[in-house]
Parts: sequence; C-alpha cells; structure tokens
Amino acid sequence: MESIAIGSDHGGYHLKEEVKAYLVDKGYSVVDVGTDSETSVDYPDFAAEVARTVQGGRADLGILICGTGIGMAITANKFKGIRAAVVHDAYTAEMSRRHNNANIITFGGRVVGAGVAFSIVDAWLGNAFEGGRHTRRLGKIEAFEKENF
Ligand code: RB5
Repeated sequence: MESIAIGSDHGGYHLKEEVKAYLVDKGYSVVDVGTDSETSVDYPDFAAEVARTVQGGRADLGILICGTGIGMAITANKFKGIRAAVVHDAYTAEMSRRHNNANIITFGGRVVGAGVAFSIVDAWLGNAFEGGRHTRRLGKIEAFEKENF
C-alpha cells in the first residue's frame, strides 16, 4: 500500500482533514505537512513540502488541496520529477494515473465536497499507469525538465 503525503492551505484545510481521515481509515500511511487551521497561509509553502517529500521518497504519492487546486499544481510542478495534476472528479483522477502517471493530485476545497474528493482518491489510487505510448510522452516532458535545469 502506498504512503501518501498530504498538505493544504487554509482554503483546503477542512477537506484535507476529511481526506486524511478517509485514507487512514483505509489503511494508508499518511504524512500530513499542514496547514493546521483556517488561518491564512501561503499555498506554495505546503506544495513545496509535499513535492519535496515525494521527490525524496519519504512518501510514494502526494495530495494537495487549496481553494481551487491550481496554485498547488503550479507550484508542485516546479519540482523535478513531480507530475502534479489538477483533478475535478473520478474520471480526471483516473486518467491522471493511467495516462500521466501523476505522482501528486491537487483539487479545490472550494470546488469539490468530501464525497467527490473521496471518489477522486479512490479512482487515483485504484488505477495504475498504463505505460506504452504514455511512457514516451512522459519522457518528452522529462526532457523539457532537463532543458530547464
Ligand atoms: C487562497 O485564497 C487561494 O488563492 C488558494 O487557496 C488557491 O486557490 C490558489 O490557487
């Protein structure tokens, strides 16, 4: 079973707590990097923490929740080896794993409710990367990454 790093800003705090409890209940090992309240914080700090945790192998996968999921994805994708996908529902979550091999998913605490968030998590964790032509495409993304470091 994968280990999962999870983080949020104030906009995703309540949903993070619900998703964390859902994962723990399912038996996943969860590393919570915060935030710990509704007090306003800067989402890049938490995105960086989860990205570094996944990058360093201290967790297999990551989940980031802000108001929309967008700022978290923009930030996490600055980290080499991170493929962060903003997902909105079970379908986008499933495809982010099967085609993009997303190692982090992000979504919005002001966009989805707990029920949709749980279906997102189930779809993402319940599917696997398909490889094949998608490996070639991810290789091209990796090459761009090298160009820019
Ligand atoms: C915070 O107000 C909000 O900007 C943040 O949670 C997120 O939605 C950014 O992408």
